[in-house]
Amino acid sequence: MSTRPGLFTPIRVGALVLPNRIVMSPMTRIRAGAGCVPTESMVRYYSQRASAGLIITEGTHPSPMGRGYTFPPGLHSDEQAAGWRKVTDAVHAAGGRIFVQLMHAGRVSHSSLLPEHALPIAPSAIAVSGEVHTFEGKQSFETPRPLSTDEIPIVIDEYQRAAELSITAGFDGVELHAATGYLPNQFQVTGSNRRTDEYGGSLEARTRFTLEVIEALCGVRGADRVGIKIGPGFTVNDTFDDNPAETYTYLARRLNPLGLAYLHVGYDSGYGRGTAPPFNSIDLIRSVFTGTLIAVGGFNKATGDAAVSAGRADLVAYGRPFISNPDLVDRFRLDAPLNIPDGQTFYGGGDHGYTDYPTLSEQGRH
Ligand SMILES: Cc1cc2nc3c(=O)[nH]c(=O)nc-3n(C[C@H](O)[C@H](O)[C@H](O)COP(=O)(O)O)c2cc1C
Repeated sequence: MSTRPGLFTPIRVGALVLPNRIVMSPMTRIRAGAGCVPTESMVRYYSQRASAGLIITEGTHPSPMGRGYTFPPGLHSDEQAAGWRKVTDAVHAAGGRIFVQLMHAGRVSHSSLLPEHALPIAPSAIAVSGEVHTFEGKQSFETPRPLSTDEIPIVIDEYQRAAELSITAGFDGVELHAATGYLPNQFQVTGSNRRTDEYGGSLEARTRFTLEVIEALCGVRGADRVGIKIGPGFTVNDTFDDNPAETYTYLARRLNPLGLAYLHVGYDSGYGRGTAPPFNSIDLIRSVFTGTLIAVGGFNKATGDAAVSAGRADLVAYGRPFISNPDLVDRFRLDAPLNIPDGQTFYGGGDHGYTDYPTLSEQGRH
């Protein structure tokens, strides 16, 4: 019998022991309520998926200025924390574990979504090309306002406060979204960071913001309850870098001594936009990162199991398959067919395409 691990081999991840290595990938679904407070539908959606080894929530803004969409959830107010508490209680009652993904959109936002219609903030005054969804329909991205050096600690404090609220909200840990062109990623890459202070220029300076945020999160939750997601080399949201292999391997090496719960590496952005890197980001990062690695992007049961058993990753996250299969873990265990996700209902709307995908037993198959 093989002693190699597979998707169903339990694993310790930081402070948690997971019954399987099938992670629900963070997915923005744009269905929060007024005040960016989680709803009862979100309670149902996440608890339906509690058999995942670990759930990572959709991108959740740590401050009003971090908001990037029309109806994303936040984690900067007591009401939001109370709303999330219902989600985490339901997931825990169903036997699951759940991290919140902290996502500050930075320049991938619009003044109409922000307090007092302020311009989005970013490392440098460079606009994303293309359009953003707002309450008034699609609008062009604006040129963001560069953060002054003095303001950066304030933004880091906002992340820290969100980490504190994540305890009130009952989360098992937090994941920093440092991929896909959102604020930490904007600092990391040369295309969006032209700063000349200690947050721009050298590799050390461009990764400083990400590392300072991570340190702040670890200070609140402990490193064994903090993860980070990176997406080396993807150009979605105009994430351009002169040397992505160098930038992200540098960052991964700097994360090594911190003892984080995990590093989560994206191989496919899932958005169908931008281009992929000229290297395999998972294998590249695996070669330099010494901790627990979650791989994500285009995996199915067989390829995910193979990645774990070959040691290319310790866990595999699934995005779109979890949208349409609340019981994805059972379906993998039983080699059952999967429901096909409907891209029309990914973002926004009601419960259709959200909480009404059937389980195997509801389909009379099990
Ligand atoms: C509807 C949708 C929303 C997403 N939102 C997020 C998000 O909020 N944060 C994030 O890190 N990744 C997000 N992603 C990317 C997924 O987490 C995942 O990395 C990607 O879909 C690739 O995995 P898959 O091929 O299994 O779907 C999103 C993907 C989709 C399809």
